[in-house]
Amino acid sequence: MMLSVENLNVFYGHIHAIKDVSLHVKEGEIVSLIGANGAGKTTTLQTISGLLKPKSGTITFEGKDITKTEAHQILQMGIAQVPEGRRIFANMTVKENLEMGAFTRKESAAQLKEERKNFYDKFPRLRERKKQMAGTLSGGEQQMLAMGRALMANPKILILDEPSMGLSPLLVKEVFEMIKTINQSGVTVLLVEQNAKMALSISNRAYVLETGKITMEGDAKELLHNESIKKAYLGA
Ligand SMILES: Nc1ncnc2c1ncn2[C@@H]1O[C@H](COP(=O)(O)OP(=O)(O)OP(=O)(O)O)[C@@H](O)[C@H]1O
Ligand SMILES: [Mg+2]
Repeated sequence: MMLSVENLNVFYGHIHAIKDVSLHVKEGEIVSLIGANGAGKTTTLQTISGLLKPKSGTITFEGKDITKTEAHQILQMGIAQVPEGRRIFANMTVKENLEMGAFTRKESAAQLKEERKNFYDKFPRLRERKKQMAGTLSGGEQQMLAMGRALMANPKILILDEPSMGLSPLLVKEVFEMIKTINQSGVTVLLVEQNAKMALSISNRAYVLETGKITMEGDAKELLHNESIKKAYLGA
């Protein structure tokens, strides 16, 4: 197992936001976590990334207990997160944003340049805009850049928090295509989405989170055809 979360409990003061959550991600998978507003999706992701500390439970990554590990070390171990709302550096260029993503790397400047080139080869739309200020990119391009910046940390697993939020249907499609491409290049993906239909359609497995608890889990294609999922999350 690449990533295992066992019986996680997270509090904000007295608010018990995450209740005994267990989930796992195998190497190479796309796993999605779906749920309504306030279900605890972001809280779960931030706890995995080390930005929040749980009251109890364990998080294991490649056999190592990372429950108490600092966020920057977790990033260095290979877990990179694209936060909700993207948060790119608006006053920096596309290229500078990608450079920032590589700040924990110890490889040579030439090696990192080569990786940026590979990234631009895969996502040429950003190459055309490499000197453009990131804040002037469209919402979809900003999401692509945010993913690119996270990839520059050379992660083993990429964690995405609502990558399709606020995007037009066409851009949503592009962003999901990009996630598939990233996964096919060997990066495991843990995806949080309110767009359950798109998320399930590209995932291997999925978990449903409701008010802090996992209420359902299984094969993504099966969940896509599950009646209660359809009613609650697929607008059917
Ligand atoms: N900093 C905070 N202080 C207090 N409560 C918080 C804080 N952040 C989140 N919460 C609460 O924890 C619960 C889970 O929030 P979280 O942001 O994880 O939900 P979410 O599933 O990501 O929702 P959304 O789909 O709206 O992004 C909510 O009830 C929220 O109000
Ligand atoms: Mg959230």
